[in-house]
Amino acid sequence: MSKFPKDFLWGGAVAANQCEGAYNEDGKGLSIQDIIPHGIKGPISEEPTSDNMKLVGIDFYHRYKEDIKLLAGMGFKVFRTSIAWSRIFPKGDEKEPNEKGLQFYDDLFDECRKYGMEPLVTISHYETPLHLAKEYDGWRSRKLIGFYENYVRTIFTRYKDKVKYWLTFNEINSVLHAPLMSGGIYTPKEELTINDLLQAAHHELVASALATKIGHEINPEFKIGCMVIAMPIYPLTPNPDDVIKMMESDHENLLFTDVHVRGKYPNYVKRILSKMGGEIKMEPGDEEILKNTVDFISFSYYMSICESAKPAAKGEGNLLGGVANPHLESSDWGWQIDPKGLRYVLNTMYDRYQKPLFIVENGLGAVDQLITDENGNKTVDDTYRINYLKKHIEQIAEAIEDGVELMGYTTWGCIDLVSASTAELKKRYGFIYVDRNDDGSGSLERYKKKSYDWYKKVIESNGEDL
Ligand code: BG6
Repeated sequence: MSKFPKDFLWGGAVAANQCEGAYNEDGKGLSIQDIIPHGIKGPISEEPTSDNMKLVGIDFYHRYKEDIKLLAGMGFKVFRTSIAWSRIFPKGDEKEPNEKGLQFYDDLFDECRKYGMEPLVTISHYETPLHLAKEYDGWRSRKLIGFYENYVRTIFTRYKDKVKYWLTFNEINSVLHAPLMSGGIYTPKEELTINDLLQAAHHELVASALATKIGHEINPEFKIGCMVIAMPIYPLTPNPDDVIKMMESDHENLLFTDVHVRGKYPNYVKRILSKMGGEIKMEPGDEEILKNTVDFISFSYYMSICESAKPAAKGEGNLLGGVANPHLESSDWGWQIDPKGLRYVLNTMYDRYQKPLFIVENGLGAVDQLITDENGNKTVDDTYRINYLKKHIEQIAEAIEDGVELMGYTTWGCIDLVSASTAELKKRYGFIYVDRNDDGSGSLERYKKKSYDWYKKVIESNGEDL
């Protein structure tokens, strides 16, 4: 008997800006991604430049039918993608939407439904319209709440019969660490205080709660979730100073789920702000809006980190970084691999909130080698990816046995796409190989990797046959 619930949502995830390409087609405006050619650490460009892999992505905009069919071939029950805000509102602050943009997602969601796949849609996934970044400094401006409200009302109304599952902001807690990518904040990070960042976060939290309210009014059947980076933090040693340091770091992440789930700020936020001598500016009505809490909590999980009271060597990793754990191995990009951390995070989150959880990102970014097999088919022997996913799914099963209520699991980058942090295609996550390289070469043909049949079997057996 499978440990997974019988209606468990198995599938995969992508984001518009990392796969669609067609960055200026059919009325789409520029997004912040179009001027970040080399990821979060690279310089920004004034205009889109040809070395920016996201401008073409994997050409999903034109090939989505072929891709959805391939994903359906694995038996996907759910497909997570995002709507590119600048396809719907090219500048972000218009009143009227771009019909061609809306039509694209109508067609995409219809295609998913044709195969019985539920779309799971991220409303804002690191792709704030560029105009909102340059003109308003992104989410630092309260005006963004109104623009976002107009955007969500438009898409909720349009897709109310096609999409049931929604996520308001991708990895909302990353705004404290990657203000441009996450919050469309054009001011360089070095010039921002923690107070500025928490104020921007407040605007997003109000917008997120407002979206939940509006969504439930438009269709009471909607399931609307928040989305955070879940990164368990371990104390580097049993020294109580390390434990306290861990607790303080945890608070900076937990505040986002606390507000989304409990509908109000936790008390510890006052202390974070008072250390900096600041406060969050609230408008009348904000507290009331925040009471619109989410239906479920979703998160990405790639790694855990350690905290130390002593300045210790920081590791590489996702958007948050952290102190390396001497007990864990790392991926080629220095992300520490910790399957048991996933069981831990599922338990701690469920213990804290008793809300359904959804793992909407998990996977291994690796360099894949395209080979020709004995039947003459091009493929990739990605046994390392299978091992990674297998170990994580085993821990998910453990967490379910622990009593955690889990809605589903979507692996990240189920088809190869452009990475967010480094903007490379070399860092591949997919079950499907896309022939495109970082120098822009490649036929864009799709090939099934070894992990394709493996994941199909996992889904067919509802997580039993790993
Ligand atoms: C998450 C993001 O941070 O991690 C995705 O939500 C991203 O957009 C994923 O792609 C993996 O990160 P990277 O940098 O390897 O693409």
